[in-house]
Amino acid sequence: MSSKGVIIQGSSRSNGNTNKIVSFVQKKTDFDIIDLKLKRFSGFDYDSKNQNDDFLPLIKEIADQYSIIIFATPVYWYSMSGIMKNFFDRITDCLTIEKKIGRKLRGKAMAMISCGSDSTIKNGFEMPFVESANYLGMHYLGNIHTWIENETISETLKNELNTFIEKRINNIT
Ligand SMILES: Cc1cc2nc3c(=O)[nH]c(=O)nc-3n(C[C@H](O)[C@H](O)[C@H](O)COP(=O)(O)O)c2cc1C
Repeated sequence: MSSKGVIIQGSSRSNGNTNKIVSFVQKKTDFDIIDLKLKRFSGFDYDSKNQNDDFLPLIKEIADQYSIIIFATPVYWYSMSGIMKNFFDRITDCLTIEKKIGRKLRGKAMAMISCGSDSTIKNGFEMPFVESANYLGMHYLGNIHTWIENETISETLKNELNTFIEKRINNIT
């Protein structure tokens, strides 16, 4: 497995605000991008009747090819997006019907980028990411909150993003 990373974009639109941040981060890291909006997968199903949708091939590809995963999610109702939450719920498949994939996630690194309309984020937003990393045996690299002003990334935020990428992401690749 290479030490390459992937940015998993969880917005309800492919070319919105989260994508502006994702594109910026992609240029600085050279990571691949996976746009969950373009994938077709349902929420978790106890009966696994959804096992032929896009999720299992997708998580297998991620587990096989990448050692760093950056989750990039918009803030929708103080939480991660529904698409991103479905993705996390489906990781349960990797602890039940596809344990081999779940084991491969262990030891990988995870970071999170949130994108809201406000420059601040409510306490606790990052908790599901931190705790999911712990539960899955992944190393949590940290998170950064972002926002878009007048369709652009402010110079201050660009500097903060550059520092985050240099200190938390690029120094482990
Ligand atoms: C359904 C929905 C819920 C939202 N809830 C919040 C929120 O709770 N807090 C916030 O700061 N912004 C909220 N916003 C604004 C978005 O987080 C913000 O516009 C973000 O940059 C959108 O990214 P996107 O273009 O990738 O969807 C919400 C937007 C939508 C569409």
